[in-house]
Amino acid sequence: MLDGVVKQSKYPLRYHITPLKGLLNDPNGLVQFKGAYHVFYQLNPYGTSHENKAWGHMVSKNMVDWERKAIALAPSEYYDKDGIYSGSAVVKEGVLYLFYTGNVIEADGTKRSYQCYAISEDGESFEKKGPLFPHPEGYTRHVRDPKVWYSEPEKKWFLVLGAQTDDLRGTAIWYASGDLLEWEFLGEIVDAKSAAYMWECPDVFELDDQWLFLISPQGFKPRGHQFQNIYHSVYVPATFKEGRFALTTDDMKELDWGFEFYAPQTFQADDGRRILYAWMGVMESDKEQAIPTIAEGWVHGLTIPRELRFEDNKLKQIPVEELKMLRQDSHSFTLSESWEFKSEKYAYEIEMRFEEEAAFEVSLKDSTKLSYQASERKLILERMNWLTNERETRMTYLEEPLTDLQIFLDGSSIEVFANEGSAVATARFFEEGPLVIHYQGELKGSAKVYELN
Ligand code: FRU
Repeated sequence: MLDGVVKQSKYPLRYHITPLKGLLNDPNGLVQFKGAYHVFYQLNPYGTSHENKAWGHMVSKNMVDWERKAIALAPSEYYDKDGIYSGSAVVKEGVLYLFYTGNVIEADGTKRSYQCYAISEDGESFEKKGPLFPHPEGYTRHVRDPKVWYSEPEKKWFLVLGAQTDDLRGTAIWYASGDLLEWEFLGEIVDAKSAAYMWECPDVFELDDQWLFLISPQGFKPRGHQFQNIYHSVYVPATFKEGRFALTTDDMKELDWGFEFYAPQTFQADDGRRILYAWMGVMESDKEQAIPTIAEGWVHGLTIPRELRFEDNKLKQIPVEELKMLRQDSHSFTLSESWEFKSEKYAYEIEMRFEEEAAFEVSLKDSTKLSYQASERKLILERMNWLTNERETRMTYLEEPLTDLQIFLDGSSIEVFANEGSAVATARFFEEGPLVIHYQGELKGSAKVYELN
């Protein structure tokens, strides 16, 4: 369990990373350094608006028990005085390097971005080293979110940035370096015809012999039941050979079919696992300002950590094994008849195994509901919009019959993993009081509800 807000909040997130006070957004600088997991995150420590961004910092040995550290990076220099924006971390020769975007608003109102770095030998105190290279020509000031990785065949570091061209097209640009200090501009990393006006938070990595490109584009229009949220996070399989990076398709697949999931970032743990955290999540500002925790002085959380796998041409997200440490008492149910589970607690995991396909519905508290229509293999997530008080839904069509569901519930979040993480939905909901789970359906299978610490 995490310290902090949980004790006072009516909508607690007990095992998710949240700010103690203020606003959290993107995960930043994810890394395992000298054995410990470090999660940095975008933090406005002073209020619940998108201003004064700093890097909050949490450290853990197991991604379950977290120690809250002092703010790692806060605005202070000419190149970052109005915000320490998103970025990443790598370790080189025992030194932790943090890469971030310095956000600057000049006295005359001109806004600028600087790509900067800081270093740390102990993972506790950070020394700013300043900008890495000049702002590239041909791009607006919207160039940000450096993600750095090392590629063994080239024996080089690469750095990719989300960017906007002068003609207002979203893209990503990249650089190469032998030492993390001198960077060579390589141009646009992908040649994608994107309908977006800006790309944020790129990520590039190899997983199960497949290169992948993750991006959070802004400006996509809804396409059928997809791309329903204000902004999106997508992945595309890619190739990376002899220093050339290319997408294998223009088809950008959403990482999450729920409501709140944005700006994901991955890192490779020492044991080789590729782990993802995201912000849950971005939304229209009137909706954000109506989130009831704002009255309590804090807003937003990160997702649970998810291990990624690339199988059957699909990116799967699986809650990391360590989260089993949260499990306490468990309660078993059959899926052949309706049941109800009530508890004074707030945090649960539900595991369901289906031996046949049929319709069913799981509702949580009153208005948050997950249902399934086997005829169309359609999973539907429904909740109350806390701004309009109207019901709203998101849905997906599974490619395979539904065999299993793993659902993580915290006081005000739900994360649904279907078919071993092949289809994932993340959402917040704000209903006061402890949990009541109703299951309705008649099918062969079993469910287990774990109370989580
Ligand atoms: C994504 C984002 C990033 C930026 C950061 C600022 O949510 O807009 O592009 O670096 O948030 O907080």
